[in-house]
Amino acid sequence: MEVEGAVFHPLKYVYGLKKLIEHKVTIHENVCAIELNKKEDGYLIRTNIGDIQANYVVVCTHYPFFINPGYIPLKTHIEKSYVIASSTKNPLSLSCITTGVPMHSIRYHKNYLLYGSYAHALTNHLDDGKNFENFKTRFQNHFQTKIDCIWFNQDIIPNDGLPFIGETEKGSHLLLATGFQTWGMTNGVLAGQVIADIIQKGTSPYEDLFAIKRNWNLVRSMHFLVDGVRYGKVYLQTTLIKNPKFYQNHVCVIYENGIRVGIYIDENGVRHKVLNTCPHMKCHLIFNEQEKTWDCPCHSSRFDVDGNIIRGPSSHSIKMDS
Ligand SMILES: Cc1cc2nc3c(=O)[nH]c(=O)nc-3n(C[C@H](O)[C@H](O)[C@H](O)COP(=O)(O)OP(=O)(O)OC[C@H]3O[C@@H](n4cnc5c(N)ncnc54)[C@H](O)[C@@H]3O)c2cc1C
Ligand code: FES
Repeated sequence: MEVEGAVFHPLKYVYGLKKLIEHKVTIHENVCAIELNKKEDGYLIRTNIGDIQANYVVVCTHYPFFINPGYIPLKTHIEKSYVIASSTKNPLSLSCITTGVPMHSIRYHKNYLLYGSYAHALTNHLDDGKNFENFKTRFQNHFQTKIDCIWFNQDIIPNDGLPFIGETEKGSHLLLATGFQTWGMTNGVLAGQVIADIIQKGTSPYEDLFAIKRNWNLVRSMHFLVDGVRYGKVYLQTTLIKNPKFYQNHVCVIYENGIRVGIYIDENGVRHKVLNTCPHMKCHLIFNEQEKTWDCPCHSSRFDVDGNIIRGPSSHSIKMDS
């Protein structure tokens, strides 16, 4: 079946944007923002390569790397979902997604079928080995082709279903764009328009709708309670059970001088020791056996076995001397 429509290629889109702005703007890559401080005449951002001063700051780091202003962790939860790529001789011009639960998404890229599904709150289903197996079974129930690649990603789900785009407070000149609810390629473009209007014209027709400080309603409050119970449950689970059943013999969590420490022994017998407490909001980290990473079950920070950050919101490592 031929489907009319367009395919959005995020990399080509970003290269296009870069071409438009590169004669006016300097782009620095591989810079990690660590801390944000309000000054009388703007903001000072501490980064891994030095300080940056700015009158306007737009934070689009997926999850903001700070808690206040914005308090995004109290207004969202993280959803984790999985994708399988399977090579096929007969790629179709087809892209579809179901609206119900569980969600199934099917599309083709070059000679690959891409199947996405098995979305769950990050705070649920902590055993990644089992998650990957369940997802593979789900794929094999629908398709008889071999699995070439399998991976997961995580996105931010606001408790009222709308992204947070705009100033943290009117006139603060600190803008956030987050909570894209697995539709970030389109919501990101929308965020760009709203933010440009706020900075250039002082206002946007959509600023109340997406306001960081928008009103709470019944739906938001209900989801806030459900998310709060889930966060509490995962905190207790990871605190009381230091070494869950799914850990293999080469992973353990212990206390050393009152400090919670995670140890991974690699295939050469080398011990990799890191702090087991997430620097962001102090949740305890789970070892991801599939990818050999320490993952936070609260807001999706990830670290390698030596404690280096792979993804935020944490902007601090979990190295023993950090
Ligand atoms: C399985 C799955 C399927 C999806 N499918 C679709 C789809 O079909 N269509 C769609 O529109 N969306 C889709 N999405 C959603 C989309 O990928 C996300 O919503 C989007 O990437 C989020 O955009 P973002 O800019 O907020 O964050 P990101 O894309 O994560 O970008 C944030 C950037 O900030 C950087 N960063 C983080 N912390 C710091 C820091 N402290 N200092 C400096 N830089 C930092 C990161 O390195 C990264 O480059 C999907 C998501 C998932 C999980
Ligand atoms: S506590 Fe928030 S990411 Fe770990």
